[in-house]
Amino acid sequence: MAQVKPKILVTGGAGYIGSHAVLALKNTGYGIVVLDNLEYGHQELVERLQVELVVGDLSDRTLLDKLFATHNFVAVMHFAAYIAVGESVSDPAKYYRNNVAGTMTLLEAMMAANVKKLVFASTCSIYGMPKQVPMTEEHPQNPINPYAITKWMVERMLADFDRAYDLQSVVFRFFNASGANPQGLLGEDHNPETHLIPLVLLTALGKRESISILGTDYSTPDGTCLRDYIHVSDLADAHVLGLEYLLQGGKSDVFNLGNGNGFSVRQVIETAQQVTGQEIKVVECDRRSGDPTILVGSSDKAQKVLGWRPQYSELSQIIKDAWQWHQQRHHS
Ligand SMILES: NC(=O)c1ccc[n+]([C@@H]2O[C@H](COP(=O)([O-])OP(=O)(O)OC[C@H]3O[C@@H](n4cnc5c(N)ncnc54)[C@H](O)[C@@H]3O)[C@@H](O)[C@H]2O)c1
Repeated sequence: MAQVKPKILVTGGAGYIGSHAVLALKNTGYGIVVLDNLEYGHQELVERLQVELVVGDLSDRTLLDKLFATHNFVAVMHFAAYIAVGESVSDPAKYYRNNVAGTMTLLEAMMAANVKKLVFASTCSIYGMPKQVPMTEEHPQNPINPYAITKWMVERMLADFDRAYDLQSVVFRFFNASGANPQGLLGEDHNPETHLIPLVLLTALGKRESISILGTDYSTPDGTCLRDYIHVSDLADAHVLGLEYLLQGGKSDVFNLGNGNGFSVRQVIETAQQVTGQEIKVVECDRRSGDPTILVGSSDKAQKVLGWRPQYSELSQIIKDAWQWHQQRHHS
């Protein structure tokens, strides 16, 4: 039996990455309350994890004050955000309101309750177009869409809140979250889905006609873009380590979380064909503007400072776990 540890508030814990973090926290013995408005999250995932779910919104200060008054939280893990890059371009107000103003409300409620430790889910897209790969935390920041700018703004807020109010944070800039809980308990279910691996697997399941490759003339070995896919369970473990680092008095810091290896779009499709045993129909299209050729991160700092050891770096493992999840999800 894991020793009972203090309570953590997890915002967005009914979503893809948040639910995996809840499982990792639970397995380590933490008490957990999930706050999620269920706009994009799934109640049944939280029910499977048997933790308390409060259905509510980040922007509801009265609810937040009540939550902090009721529970003796020592820290917050903050995943709640809108995540669709394209939509952030067509409707930026939605993103600034939720991701920035919503986070501001959360931070103010934390300050009022004297809870001053936060683990924040940021993104590698705050770097913008890569100037060198693998990208380290020192890479210049030049976010190129409203979604990425909202994350960049929160990072700036957190740095200022530390200086002024002594609020310590661990910021994780993750690359492409992928895969699923290896035991089949949790997985990815975004609506709309925009991520490559689930789209490929939905094609393998016959839920989509084909998968589009956006550009086959990049200067990579097979002409398609290279991306960094990080297994969601490895991400979740890193979040527990980041939390423990803060609880042990660690100072605010920023860490990349990535695989360190780039995989091409064709490699993802070929591996998915091997794993699923299905022919996956491909449509080759022109490049999409703004897509960098290679996006790969260095996570050396997280490994060194937090002792993070990713366990599922193989593309075949990532796809196998995602496939197990998608089969269950769509065949029941
Ligand atoms: N998926 C990725 O590859 C990726 C990469 C980098 C960063 N991130 C970040 O990780 C976090 C989680 O991403 P995800 O893929 O799990 O997304 P997700 O949509 O599955 O999860 C987000 C959850 O937050 C909830 N939520 C959103 N706004 C809320 C609000 N105002 N109040 C309460 N709940 C709210 C949603 O209902 C959802 O359950 C996000 O902050 C995202 O920006 C994700």
